[in-house]
Amino acid sequence: MNGQNPSGPDELHDFLCDLARRAGELQMSRYERPGDIREKAPKDIVTEVDFLCEDLIVQAIEARYPDDAILSEERGGEIAASGRSWLVDPIDGTANFARANPLFCSCIAVMEDGEVTNAVVAAPRIGDLYHARRGAGTFRESNGETSPVKVSETQSLEYALVGADMSLSRVSKRNQRYREALDEIFSGCWQFRALGSAGIRGAWLASGYLDVSVGTHNTPWDYAPTVLLVTEAGGRATDLTGEPWSPEAEGLLATSGGPLHEELLGVFRRGTTPG
Ligand code: 2AM
Ligand code: CA
Repeated sequence: MNGQNPSGPDELHDFLCDLARRAGELQMSRYERPGDIREKAPKDIVTEVDFLCEDLIVQAIEARYPDDAILSEERGGEIAASGRSWLVDPIDGTANFARANPLFCSCIAVMEDGEVTNAVVAAPRIGDLYHARRGAGTFRESNGETSPVKVSETQSLEYALVGADMSLSRVSKRNQRYREALDEIFSGCWQFRALGSAGIRGAWLASGYLDVSVGTHNTPWDYAPTVLLVTEAGGRATDLTGEPWSPEAEGLLATSGGPLHEELLGVFRRGTTPG
């Protein structure tokens, strides 16, 4: 626990949601004007607005909670072994934002003792903000109204709408194994959705718009919110082997829960056999 900080959990949660709202206002002020666009790695882009949003979010956290650790996508940082840590993705869905596709958001999550305790996904262009606090449920704010959301009741892959974003074009043994598992999932599901934002994918799963979200990266800043939004909405989130998700995990499987989760873990267990 962060004993020195007088802020109670509600105050922290309000701060977190407000921060995501402010980042959203900044994104909207630069919608269709992303500024300079750089390739961090081949086909992995970052815009000027990513950095502006990151400065806004990180500086606000540092000013309000100076003892907390911060891990943020563009500037790095770390998750503290003990105490509170903030995970920040200033723009999730940058490739969308850069071409004015409305599916982008900012993701902010708080972790303590290995658990995600608070999370927000704010998608300003579609006007939705999703947030969750451990033990208090998941909510969507839209058009000035706040309502609880819950996951779907879909029981099997055959009837599932599956969300995933694949960039498996790089040839590697790891990607080949994921490709096999994902092939099986895509050919066995009802319909597939690729949104271009891991944060929105998780929020839409929590809301019952999707039944499954698969991530095959190790990007805790955009996966952490899904873990809390989905579990607080009645679903399940694990790593791809069925272990509890952690920031070190090689991927994230989130579903509406029940037999559907087990069915998908079965696919990954078969698809991730070494060799
Ligand atoms: P980003 O927009 O913050 O980069 C769809 O592309 C999703 O996968 C987005 O959430 C995106 O996050 C993430 N993503 C894109 N390219 C990636 C990469 N090379 N490694 C990890 N995640 C990536
Ligand atoms: Ca990002």
